[in-house]
Amino acid sequence: MTMSPRLRKFALTAHVASSVGWLGAVAASLVLAVAGLTGEDVQVVRAAYLGMNSIGEDALVPLALTSLLTGLVQSLGTEWGLFRHYWVLIKLLINVFAAFVLLLYMQTLGYLAGLAADPSADLGALRNPSPVLHASAAMLLLVVATALSVYKPRGVTPYGWRKQHEERKRRALQRNKQAEQRTESQP
Ligand code: HEM
Repeated sequence: MTMSPRLRKFALTAHVASSVGWLGAVAASLVLAVAGLTGEDVQVVRAAYLGMNSIGEDALVPLALTSLLTGLVQSLGTEWGLFRHYWVLIKLLINVFAAFVLLLYMQTLGYLAGLAADPSADLGALRNPSPVLHASAAMLLLVVATALSVYKPRGVTPYGWRKQHEERKRRALQRNKQAEQRTESQP
């Protein structure tokens, strides 16, 4: 089922806002992760880990899930389809993989935030390179997804070829039928 142009624009606005918003929230997390790893000031380090956990819970998780949901709507509600073009398929895989790792990683962020909130906790245990690595990998994946969305490389999957072929055949049959009807109705 294809969406009307109005609905398509509305849904695309939600998709771009959530997807690029997710990228922005990952960038903010990366800044905090670097501050947490390298900061000299104890208060700054503690605040960085608490901030990362809040961004994760209140921005990363909802935006990742909204991006996935609105991406599915854009695919299934337009002629792009979900499995017809490699660029859409790769974005789907990136999104599902990144969202899955994020959901698992929220436990680590929660644990680090708990340590940061504990005044007796050792700062050495807090200075962990893992948030920097995770946020950098997420940035890279989301930049690739954004570039794929903008360039939309031509590659079509075998399923996409079959669908295109069927669609062309259907249109040709329709044209022939209309031509026959026109000739029959001529005096
Ligand atoms: C991984 C995170 C994602 C990012 C950063 C992202 C980003 C974008 C952007 C910026 C556009 C607008 C491109 C343009 O109009 O020129 C777009 C469009 C689109 N996205 Fe995504 N997207 C993501 C996930 C997904 C997912 C998971 C799917 C499919 C399940 C998807 C399917 C689509 C489709 C089909 C369009 C074209 C819509 C149209 O032309 O009406 N996206 N995406």
